Amino acid sequence: MSSDQRSFGAPKGTRDLLPPESWRWEALARLAADVFSQAGYAPVETPIFEHTEVFSRGVGETSDVVTKQMYTFPDKGGRSLTLRPENTAPVVRAVLEHNLHRGPLPVKLYYFGPQFRQERPQKGRYRQFFQFGIEALGAPGPAVDAEVVEVGYRFLRAAGIEPVLKLNSIGHLADDCRIGYNRALVDYLRAHEGDLAEEDRGRIDTNPLRTFDSKEDRTVAVMSGAPLITEYLCADCKAHFDGVQELLSAVGVPFELEPRIVRGLDYYTRTAFEYLSGGLGSQNAVGGGGRYDGLASALGGDELPAIGFALGADRILLAADEGALAPGRGVEVYVVALGDEAAGRAFEIVTRLRAAGIGAELDHMGRGMKGQMKDADRSGARWAAIVGPEELAAGEVMLKNLTSGEQTRVSLDDLERRVRS
Ligand code: HAM
Repeated sequence: MSSDQRSFGAPKGTRDLLPPESWRWEALARLAADVFSQAGYAPVETPIFEHTEVFSRGVGETSDVVTKQMYTFPDKGGRSLTLRPENTAPVVRAVLEHNLHRGPLPVKLYYFGPQFRQERPQKGRYRQFFQFGIEALGAPGPAVDAEVVEVGYRFLRAAGIEPVLKLNSIGHLADDCRIGYNRALVDYLRAHEGDLAEEDRGRIDTNPLRTFDSKEDRTVAVMSGAPLITEYLCADCKAHFDGVQELLSAVGVPFELEPRIVRGLDYYTRTAFEYLSGGLGSQNAVGGGGRYDGLASALGGDELPAIGFALGADRILLAADEGALAPGRGVEVYVVALGDEAAGRAFEIVTRLRAAGIGAELDHMGRGMKGQMKDADRSGARWAAIVGPEELAAGEVMLKNLTSGEQTRVSLDDLERRVRS
């Protein structure tokens, strides 16, 4: 490629999805729609961009996502817009705007779409990446937490991943719960400030919880002795968390309690969880989620308890067992034409098969018999229907089973039935 052409490469941190990978992608999307809708979640689509405040107020002014990673731009009217870095705040915005929360509860929704974060690209980390997510809004009890966690777990297993589920509760914003904990944590961090990595010292005042996410060795060492949120939960949050664990155990979803999981977005309350997978290097989180009981009111709406998760589609595909995502049915019959007259007939046969719901393809490159048979193999078809002058005259095709090699003459009227059987 010349350097001129290279300037038309996809932007850094983005990628093209091409066959055959795109087939697995499509299979994954179909699986998600099946698993989520089967649990009562309905599809939702929100815009790719939102008013910036949806994220600054929703996701939080102290999160890395908002302070460092958003693609924010003014439109021609001078409004500040942002490419969505995540889909939870937009879904809550949409639910409030259309008053879905005034109807039957819980509101249960799922989505699949691109998200944008300006992070340093590496394996499993992109600037445009795709998330599957579900959100359940309106139900306060632990049963919906268990449902959400279980649905994500089951989906990942069906996609060919054996996820490790890490579970925590980060309490709620009250003096006898997370606020009290924050004070204890800040005291501890102050006492060890000199031992923290330089870049983590600033977090003591802005977002002390986030120091648990630091990858700096010095900070990690300090955090190993830090007080843990689970020791500070109020009675209600503790009971809620116990309830979630009991329900997950009852349905056989294995989990590991991990009091150091704090999540990277500011809206979380109570239940917080992550699904981890091997084979991904440092970007080993295939998904994460939690409760966000305060998000709706942060966006100016009513109090609306809610929980959800998002799973990284790009990472699932990297980590998933190759065999687990079978592509859809695609082409079943490849119609091979010998000669010009037969080529016209092949087009009619292909069109008829497609109209009957049978995947069919034919040659468009003027290949000979051998070339067409090779192309039939490439197409993934199970059958080749060969039309030569003889078959043409008799109103038949030579139907060849491409797996067994067996072939028989069948009439055009019989072709559909034979292929289906
Ligand atoms: P999150 O943990 O920021 O949560 O992202 C969820 C998942 O998206 C991650 O576990 C990862 O698999 C994937 N992901 C995130 N950033 C990237 C990236 N740069 N490249 C590739 N994959 C990435 C949320 O976004 C929350 N909205 C989840 C949620 C829904 N919480 C409640 N409801």
